[in-house]
Amino acid sequence: MMEKDVVIKAENVTKRFGERVILNGISLEVCRGETFVIMGGSGCGKSTLLRHLIGALPPDSGKVYLLGKDLASLNEDEMDRVKKKIGMCFQSAALFDSMTVGENVSLPLREHTRLETHVIETVVKMKLELVGLRGFEGLMPSQLSGGMRKRVGLARAIAMDPEIMFYDEPTAGLDPIVAGVIDKLILDLSKKLSITSVVVTHDMKSVFSIADRVAMLYEGKALAVGAPDEIKKSENPMVRQFISGSPDGPIRFFQQKDDYLEHLMK
Ligand SMILES: Nc1ncnc2c1ncn2[C@@H]1O[C@H](COP(=O)(O)OP(=O)(O)O)[C@@H](O)[C@H]1O
Ligand SMILES: [Mg+2]
Repeated sequence: MMEKDVVIKAENVTKRFGERVILNGISLEVCRGETFVIMGGSGCGKSTLLRHLIGALPPDSGKVYLLGKDLASLNEDEMDRVKKKIGMCFQSAALFDSMTVGENVSLPLREHTRLETHVIETVVKMKLELVGLRGFEGLMPSQLSGGMRKRVGLARAIAMDPEIMFYDEPTAGLDPIVAGVIDKLILDLSKKLSITSVVVTHDMKSVFSIADRVAMLYEGKALAVGAPDEIKKSENPMVRQFISGSPDGPIRFFQQKDDYLEHLMK
């Protein structure tokens, strides 16, 4: 049997902020080429987990391996080398408003490579074409819609040909049609460029349209990890409630301030 090619591995990762345990022993594996979705309610620790997976936050205990490297063991140079192989797409497109679209996309290439200007221009054209923005180089971010800005952010994130792309709530704040376009783009990019993708979202429609596998984060644990079909059939009441978006179930919604404060103290 062929060995699974694991590109991300989290082993029993824990993290507290003050007294609060945010990640309570998370273990997961992401294989090369797959689209792995991390879902869960707001504030459950999805972005925190993502920041651990890219080495931006060290765990209190446990380990993260990225592309075979134990992140805790790397010096700054080695960490930089790993970071060049990953791309991040944040919730806000985080474009520089004073730069053109082309300048925004070329930024990582200008910072991290010695490619000649005309080569960089060609790469930028290709990346913009991949995200459906052919010929947009000269526009300013302020001239673009929210969905277009997001796509420029994506073009910039793939400028350096990453092996792994990380997305934090890529469809948040977009209307359903534009969200669908972004989902399709994430899928296209992973297929066309054979990129491994890790997507954090609470958008159930996204989950089922893009995921090869899904993990649900709840109270610091990865509750259910499996293919979307398995998750849909899950007997776990927390998972069922999350998928159906029902207010009734084991997941608590705090309607009293004191209940909420007590929960925070736990
Ligand atoms: N640097 C930090 N210091 C203290 N608390 C934090 C920090 N970052 C996040 N938190 C808290 O940890 C919890 C999880 O946050 P986050 O990972 O952003 O959740 P999600 O992305 O699932 O909405 C939240 O309650 C948040 O307020
Ligand atoms: Mg978040």
